[in-house]
Amino acid sequence: MEYQNLIFAVEAGVATITFNRPKALNAMNSVTMKELYDAAMRCQTDSGIKAIILTGAGDKAFVAGADISEMQNMRPQEAMEFMELGHAALRLIETMSKPSIAAINGFALGGGTEISMACDMRFASDKARFGQPEILIGLIPGWGGTQRLARLIGVGRAKEIIMGGGQLDAQRAYEIGLVNRIIPAEQLMDETRKFAAKLAGLPGFALKMAKHAIVYGYDLALDNANKLEVECCAQCFSTDDQKEGMKAFLEKRKPNFKGC
Ligand code: CAA
Repeated sequence: MEYQNLIFAVEAGVATITFNRPKALNAMNSVTMKELYDAAMRCQTDSGIKAIILTGAGDKAFVAGADISEMQNMRPQEAMEFMELGHAALRLIETMSKPSIAAINGFALGGGTEISMACDMRFASDKARFGQPEILIGLIPGWGGTQRLARLIGVGRAKEIIMGGGQLDAQRAYEIGLVNRIIPAEQLMDETRKFAAKLAGLPGFALKMAKHAIVYGYDLALDNANKLEVECCAQCFSTDDQKEGMKAFLEKRKPNFKGC
């Protein structure tokens, strides 16, 4: 699939997906969301891709939300399809077997905050701004905001953000656990690439199992979640990387992981 509104690049095992409608602050229309789904599927199925970065083109926005001009005259059935499309793409990113980082370079409002929350980690530039302002246009979040925000920062704070419609700067987002790091804007991509490269060099199967246990264990009762963890941990013992990792530790040398 050729992309109109995304740039897709792969370097040294790290795929970078760049939302590329800077004139509209990278607002997500249905074409872009279909492209994101396709790009996420490429990341999932290409064994050469070990880690994924999502970011926005230009210096102003990551994604300023779903495209309001496209949504304005939607009927409920069309709106449902648009929201389901977003959910499918974001759940694919959230559950894929490889780590993802959102490099948030500016406004991440509405659907922008929602896309970032589907990634495993959020690295924010000091100029980033977050929020779920849908209420201000007579809407509520439709790409997982009501669920992922509450899980990430707690129900009380999520209600304040979603029901109040206000924006948060990077510092506040960091304080409440919405983002992992704040990075000066000019260093955001270098720092994110450095961390993604580190992830790409780690044992891929163990990363997959770690993510699987966290993502699928979260909503289980503790006993069942712990059982899932035991199974995922035990599976790691089937890999060469586990043998190599432990052997290298005991021989006091750097491991040479092969990704299997
Ligand atoms: N949809 C469509 N176009 C958008 C957009 C959006 N979400 N956000 C920005 N744009 C467009 C603007 O219309 C404008 O286009 P023109 O130049 O053609 O007029 C251009 O991007 C630049 O935006 P502004 O002139 O508004 O820039 P600003 O610096 O004054 O303000 C902003 C920046 C605060 C991000 C402001 O653009 C804004 O509030 N955007 C909308 C944010 C929003 O409400 N997001 C939620 C959308 S609903 C949603 O996401 C639902 C869901 O959960 C799935």
